[in-house]
Order: sequence, then structure tokens, then C-alpha cells
Amino acid sequence: MQVINIGVLGLGTVGSGVVRILRDHQNKISSITGRKLVIKTVVVHDLAKKRNVDLAGINVTDKIDDLINDKDIQIVVEVMGTVTTAKEYIERLLNAGKHIITANKDLIATYGSELAELAGKNNCDLFYEASVAGGIPILRTIVNSFAADRIVEVKGIVNGTTNYIMTQMSQNHVEYQKALQSAQELGFAEPDPTNDVEGIDAAYKMIILTRFAFGMNVTLDDIEVEGISNVDLEDIKQAKELGYNVKLVGIAKLINDRIKVSVGPVLIPEDQPLAAVQNENNAVLVTGAAVGETMFYGPGAGELPTANSVLSDIIAVTKDIVLGTTGSRFNDFSREGKQALATE
Ligand code: HSE
Repeated sequence: MQVINIGVLGLGTVGSGVVRILRDHQNKISSITGRKLVIKTVVVHDLAKKRNVDLAGINVTDKIDDLINDKDIQIVVEVMGTVTTAKEYIERLLNAGKHIITANKDLIATYGSELAELAGKNNCDLFYEASVAGGIPILRTIVNSFAADRIVEVKGIVNGTTNYIMTQMSQNHVEYQKALQSAQELGFAEPDPTNDVEGIDAAYKMIILTRFAFGMNVTLDDIEVEGISNVDLEDIKQAKELGYNVKLVGIAKLINDRIKVSVGPVLIPEDQPLAAVQNENNAVLVTGAAVGETMFYGPGAGELPTANSVLSDIIAVTKDIVLGTTGSRFNDFSREGKQALATE
């Protein structure tokens, strides 16, 4: 069987999960793709750091050039985070003809269209299913299953950390700081959790969802963003007594042919589906003019759920390589100018 060699950039929570799933499910993946997928090289920042994943047979290096210059590596998974360095690496990798898979929502929300253009020029795939809602396959679902519909609203809980914090505050009366610390220990929170608790991480995900659902590129400046750092135990308790749960909700909505995007804490009646989404789970409601309201639910963060989304992209790229359809339509969904921002 022909081999497709993969490079991985970063070996934190998600990178370790990718190595683990690919090892455990290699036979199944081979039978689906007709190719043996092998992680050849992993690039890490700290070579001395102990890893709790089996790296036998994998070349572990701290040099990005070991990926860029290796002609045998066709696919690179970027799970190192950061924006500036990741962008530079991905540009160099795309120019070297590597297909890119990334979970980096900060990068894709900010430079997604630019990178997609570069990917297209190099006939490469650039996929990022794991960048939104962790383990929920929401981007590919919007592309495939809503292709014939007209989406009018995308709304949901798209940050696992804040949902975990608020669930712990509401159900176990855990103080905000303690709940945040526990989210960090469980690997849900960003290295600097400011983006989680201030709603920026959710806003990045709404930027990507808006691009996919409405074909429109919005920036952080276009979005009303409020986080949860001002929500305290008393607010949550009072809401509960009145029959509401407090959730950080992102909304992208069509209003008279204009798009309005916002992120903020919302009081949700306890009998509504979003109110029942607990801990690090996410849920995305997509409303189409034809289909009506649909809801997609699952883990929004964590090693294996996020890695599973990365693996779905690896399989999609492999199919494109086999069929000769790389540089495909998944790369870019912005159709700028089609919609304008709603000002109200
Ligand atoms: N910090 C993010 C979250 C990780 O809590 O949702 C997944 O994107």
C-alpha cells in the first residue's frame, strides 16, 4: 500500500491526540483511504520535555526546516498555536507544496482568506475543521448539508472553557477562579485563558462560522464581544432561581440582508436545548430557510475530540490527493460583498 507521510507541528494536547488516534486506528483509516498514513516527523519547541504519547518510529525535531525540506512529507498538521509564527511556518509549508490542517482559530479567523488564497495558488488543501467547536464536525456539515439551503442564523455555545466554568459555578457553586483553574488543568483553556473568558475565542469561532454560513469575512472589530469575567456566583444563582441558565452564546444572524455577529452572556430558559449544554460541551444551532432549526452537539475541547476533527481533515486531504482534487473548494468560503454588516 502506498504511504502518505505526515508532519505534525506542535505536540501539546491536540498533537498528542492526533498521534494517538492515528496509531490506534491506522488499519481502519487505510481501508477507507487506500493509503497508509504515517506520522514521519514531529516538530516541538522543547526537545527535552517528557511526552505521554508513544513516539516510537517518529522523528522528533525542533527544526521547522525538517518539515519544509522533506519532499516525502505531503501533509502537515499545525497544532502549535500562536498567530505570527504559525502563519510564517504555514506560508513556507504551502509554498513547499504541503497540504495544511490546522486547529488554530486565532490564525484562521484573522488570516484564513489570505492563507486559503496561497493554498489555492499552490494547489494545496487548507482545512481547519478542528478550529470551531472541537469535536463537532460543523464546518463540513455547513458546506455539505446546507449547500442547497439559505442559512439565516448560526448560534451556539462555541467555547468549552467558559461553559465548563459556568456549569461548575451553577451546579457545584465553585468560585470563578477555581473553576477556571480546573479548566486549565483539564486542557480546555488556552495557554493564556484571557481569550476564553473575555469571549475572544468564541468571537474567532463566530468569524469562521460566519464565513462558512454566509460567505462573508467579518473581523473582530465588527463583532460585539462581551466575556464572562463579570458574571459572579450571585448572578448565576439568581438566574437559576428564575428558571434560567447563563451561557456564553455567539450569534451570527441575517437581518434584512445584513449580517450581525455578537458574543456575550445570555439568559437561557432552562427548557431550551442550549441551557442543557454542560461543562466543556458545545452546541451549534444552524437555521436554514428550508430546513428550519438544526442543532449539533458534542465536546468543544479536549485531546481526543479535537484530534478526531483533525483526523477527519487528514482523511479528506488524503482522498483529495488520491483523486487529484487538492486545492479544493473547501479552502475558502468567503464571497465578499454579498452581504453587508447590520448596524443595528
Ligand atoms: N479554549 C478553547 C475552548 C479550546 O475552551 O473552547 C477549543 O477551541
